[in-house]
Amino acid sequence: MRWFGFRPSTLVTMCGIVGYVGPNADAKAIDVVMEGLARLEYRGYDSAGVALVADGAIASEKRAGKLVNLRSAIEAHPLPDSSTAIGHTRWATHGGPTDANAHPHRGGEDGKLALVHNGIIENFHALKKGLIAEGVEFRSETDTEVVAHLLAKAYAAQGDLTAAMQTVVADLEGAFTLLAVHADQAGTVVGARRNSPLVVGLGEGENFLGSDVAAFIGYTRQALELAQDQIVTITPESVTVMNFDGTPAEGKHYEVTWDAAAAEKGGYATFMEKEINEQPHAVADTLLGRTDEDGRLVLDEMDITEEEFRAIDKIVIVACGTASYAGFVAKYAVEHWTRIPVAVELAHEFRYSDPVVDDKTLVVSISQSGETMDTLMAVKHAKELGARTLSICNTHGSTIPRESDAVLYTHAGPEIAVASTKAFLAQITACYILGLYLAQLRGGTYAEDAQAVMKELSEVPAKLEELLGSMKRVKEIARFMADTRSVLFLGRNVGYPVAMEGALKLKELAYIHAEGFAAGELKHGPIALIDAGQPVFIVVPGPDTPHGLHDKVVSNIQEIRARGARTLVIAEEGDDKVEPFADEVIRIPHTSPLLAPLLAVVPLQVFALHLSTAKGLDVDQPRNLAKSVTVE
Ligand code: AGP
Repeated sequence: MRWFGFRPSTLVTMCGIVGYVGPNADAKAIDVVMEGLARLEYRGYDSAGVALVADGAIASEKRAGKLVNLRSAIEAHPLPDSSTAIGHTRWATHGGPTDANAHPHRGGEDGKLALVHNGIIENFHALKKGLIAEGVEFRSETDTEVVAHLLAKAYAAQGDLTAAMQTVVADLEGAFTLLAVHADQAGTVVGARRNSPLVVGLGEGENFLGSDVAAFIGYTRQALELAQDQIVTITPESVTVMNFDGTPAEGKHYEVTWDAAAAEKGGYATFMEKEINEQPHAVADTLLGRTDEDGRLVLDEMDITEEEFRAIDKIVIVACGTASYAGFVAKYAVEHWTRIPVAVELAHEFRYSDPVVDDKTLVVSISQSGETMDTLMAVKHAKELGARTLSICNTHGSTIPRESDAVLYTHAGPEIAVASTKAFLAQITACYILGLYLAQLRGGTYAEDAQAVMKELSEVPAKLEELLGSMKRVKEIARFMADTRSVLFLGRNVGYPVAMEGALKLKELAYIHAEGFAAGELKHGPIALIDAGQPVFIVVPGPDTPHGLHDKVVSNIQEIRARGARTLVIAEEGDDKVEPFADEVIRIPHTSPLLAPLLAVVPLQVFALHLSTAKGLDVDQPRNLAKSVTVE
């Protein structure tokens, strides 16, 4: 596909997009779009805007800054009633977050066309030059406005918005979701997508478009998944899908299981706090329905045969950020149970490496959003190399599962906070389910263990509930440490990726230096960092962990304490060996060593959340970050 040649700029982009057409009598388009934007604000929030079709004209408003600025502007200058509208929350890529660069952008001298866009048009410079040569005047620095003018020009020639969209997308290179309305075509919104999310919401006498289901979840749970390079035209009574080449197509219908409340904060101060407290459900729901009446593991939507699974002789996990740490945790357990070598690769590194991968390699991608371009490109790279691909994903119908041979959905529910928490636990759980499935399928030493481990996994949600109820001291420590400039995290074995995840949480939420190390690595350099009062979290394995790892980590605590570190120890209930060397002991319930990460990470999540709060920072939308990084 053309987009394979696409080398998106290494900019982060993702935006919230909403489109609506409904009965003229209701004229509620602006309310629907503003509600959708409010639910999508996490996707990108440096400006926002709406455009609607009313009385043969386009009425629009847009403002830099958060959605509240747009809302105030509309209150000050009310927009006319309408039944056709589009809306957008932006994360800047080309052009800073200004009113002029905010979407929607108008096309044509008459401004009768309005467009919103998520993604990056890679060839917009050349297209812009052509338009300027034709005398078009630009009002913004964005790539989007180029498309708006191209669409207006095509509409002027063809008189139909769908046909105009089809003409224009043929000239675009890059990743994009586009929504357009035209003053002369009330009751119609046209969308197009290439390597960027777009879903259809199906209503009664009304229809919706959104960059994800949160855009319309308050109105309908019936959704249509669109495939690559497709155009969709919605009116109040119809949804028409076609491929870029004009051939008719069918979207894939599914029911959204999240309800409107799930996308709200549910009484917590932040989405992150809500999602940390949803972790028992995230683990429990991900375990649901995974075993048949005989206790054998069953996996959904597998297009990989049992024979192919049996032939697998290598597993490569590809992911980014927190999802990659879930993979690092899973590596220890999956190798132990299946005796298959497991490599964990950062997706953006795997993508440009020359890995040893063939048709006996199972490449497992882990992604909460299912839209992370780095991970998507790694999956495509793996497929080109002949690997079988399996996606572990939390977002139904997103791009990465669709590009994979098989999918194992986590069921963590919508994760709105940029900092991933419940998805992380659900990802580890799903990886364990996969590992146990493979162990059972392939026989061998641990095949019989699968049921026992699944039973122990089923006990984790209750342990999480207990643990979440005992975080008072962690919150106090966080507030006490609000001025901290640097925190280190140590762990061994499965505790090592937990240490890295704890460090990442602190970096992205409190904007301070934090680093996770393998505790055994201390003496090879990092111990030089230990100075008087240096705070260090240490994830201590349970006393019954093999290879004497518990005592080795206790020794590490002694080493750093002797050099002045402030030791914050995460240890199992009843483990009194750590007491003499700990400035603080944070207790977690006992569980078997390989399942311990599902518990040990929680105090680190809570610590980061409350230190960020103590610093007065925006917990749910940390600076410079976005929830879904949809270009490389
Ligand atoms: C985690 O807190 C971050 N938000 C980030 O590292 C995230 O895990 C990463 O970008 C991967 O996102 P994905 O799971 O949606 O692919």
